[in-house]
Amino acid sequence: MAHIKSNCPKWLSTAVFYQIYPQSFYDSNSDGIGDIPGIIEKLDYIKFLGCDAIWLNPCFESPFGDAGYDVSDYYRVAKRYGTNADLKRLFREADKRNIKICLDLVVAHTSIEHPWFKQSCKAEKNKYSNWYIWNDGTYKPVDKDLRFGWIRGYCNRDANFALNYYWCQPALNYGFAQPDSKKPWQLRVDHPDVKAVRKEVMNIMSFWLDMGASGFRVDMARSLVKHDPGYKATSQFWRQVRQMLDKDYPNAVLISEWSCPTQAISAGFHVDFMIQINEKVYNYLFRMEKHRDVLGESTDEGYSFFDKQGKGDIQKFLDRCTEHLRNTKGKGYISIPTGNHDTGRIGIGRNQKELEMVFAFIMTMPGVPFIYYGDEIGMRYVRNWVSKEGGYARNGSRTPMQWNDSKNAGFSKAPALKLYLPADSAKNRPNVEKQTANQNSLLNRVRQLIRLRKNSPALCADGSFTALYAKSKKYPLVYMRSDGNQRYIAAFNPSKYKVRADFTSPVGKTIPELKAGWGTDLKIQGRKCKIDMNAVSYGIFKL
Ligand code: NOJ
Repeated sequence: MAHIKSNCPKWLSTAVFYQIYPQSFYDSNSDGIGDIPGIIEKLDYIKFLGCDAIWLNPCFESPFGDAGYDVSDYYRVAKRYGTNADLKRLFREADKRNIKICLDLVVAHTSIEHPWFKQSCKAEKNKYSNWYIWNDGTYKPVDKDLRFGWIRGYCNRDANFALNYYWCQPALNYGFAQPDSKKPWQLRVDHPDVKAVRKEVMNIMSFWLDMGASGFRVDMARSLVKHDPGYKATSQFWRQVRQMLDKDYPNAVLISEWSCPTQAISAGFHVDFMIQINEKVYNYLFRMEKHRDVLGESTDEGYSFFDKQGKGDIQKFLDRCTEHLRNTKGKGYISIPTGNHDTGRIGIGRNQKELEMVFAFIMTMPGVPFIYYGDEIGMRYVRNWVSKEGGYARNGSRTPMQWNDSKNAGFSKAPALKLYLPADSAKNRPNVEKQTANQNSLLNRVRQLIRLRKNSPALCADGSFTALYAKSKKYPLVYMRSDGNQRYIAAFNPSKYKVRADFTSPVGKTIPELKAGWGTDLKIQGRKCKIDMNAVSYGIFKL
């Protein structure tokens, strides 16, 4: 097993990320689609918010069968977003403001339009024949155990190809961990053609890192090597990638879509999102019960803890969380995002107070927080979506950023019908300009919470975490974050009921200082603590 240095780039320990869906952020040339020069124009806003790193969804050439998660040229920015020179300028302008830009690396599959795939489709053998997973005959039975299935009869090559997600996303060939000797088309992980694919992935990464990128969010990171129990062979590949980074780009970060930080961090990633329980159960911590089915997700937990009904169970989440924190300590980070382009928005069914509480939770938890664009102003999930570029129900979370009261919410000067997706049509849709002017807006409260986090090592990624009151099916949730002598207690009661919690003080007699929140009353007498909380209230106390 390759040796992994446990040190992460230092900037990660205080970073707060902002996720930008480039189509929908800001349209600088009035063609109805967001673009890179538009992002450059808005960098000062991201700085004003307090974020210092960006995850940019895919911005490369693509036929957009899955909104850009089907790349047809890894080395070229899609025309609709600008040019490579624009992206380079984004890196430079971001750097001037101390903002890092991480790109989306989508290398588990390509688009069917990728020239490698077109070559691979040919009946004659060529350099790319083995770059994708093909069986050995159109009429041969296919392996049922490949998760996303096969496409039959696509081209003149007499074989079926394996998918990695949609029908137009053929899986790149990272080999089989346990190839079946009766199926010689299942290549070993050290087959020269498999090695060539892997080498190319490193080339792509170096290309953008050399240009000024600060790292990558890796799409479907665990879905590379097939028949790979425990993702062992897949992890081995990422550890090689990490070695390359440690050696040549020690400040660059690798963030995974893996959903198991314990596995992902030991595979060499620096950060992994905690957004799924496991590969089958999609559990979105902030999804409200009555809106649970927006994306038709399955879940084993009927209610979110952050739901007024007060029927959630934070303990299951915390159990997973503390286990991952323990397993990854000193090696990498968990991440609790506000949401992303695949989830419902936290804004579904929540008022400002409830949204602020979600942010207060995220900004006081360990790991690296990610804010999905627009969540900081409470953008809503738009329900009357029409599908675009394979988005389906996800489109409700991908609508244009709302900047001001003008046409198209200030996103674009194009006619409304030309927009990538229609803007939220609600009369009172929130926007940046209005919220900037209002001291008590969600935007300004989020800014304060980010500032509090950034000024407090105890609240940042590495501060230690101790649950003080976290009980199955009970409210509130109370925990402590600490770093040396700095200690905070954070308490949350998202439920509509008044609640009280008694717990033991970890630090003895102290006088709490209310830093943020409302409606809480924390009393510490000796080793005994008592907290009384109003319905829908939270508090952050400095000890
Ligand atoms: C995960 C991405 O976040 C999602 O948007 C995409 O559709 C799939 N991976 C396939 O690349």
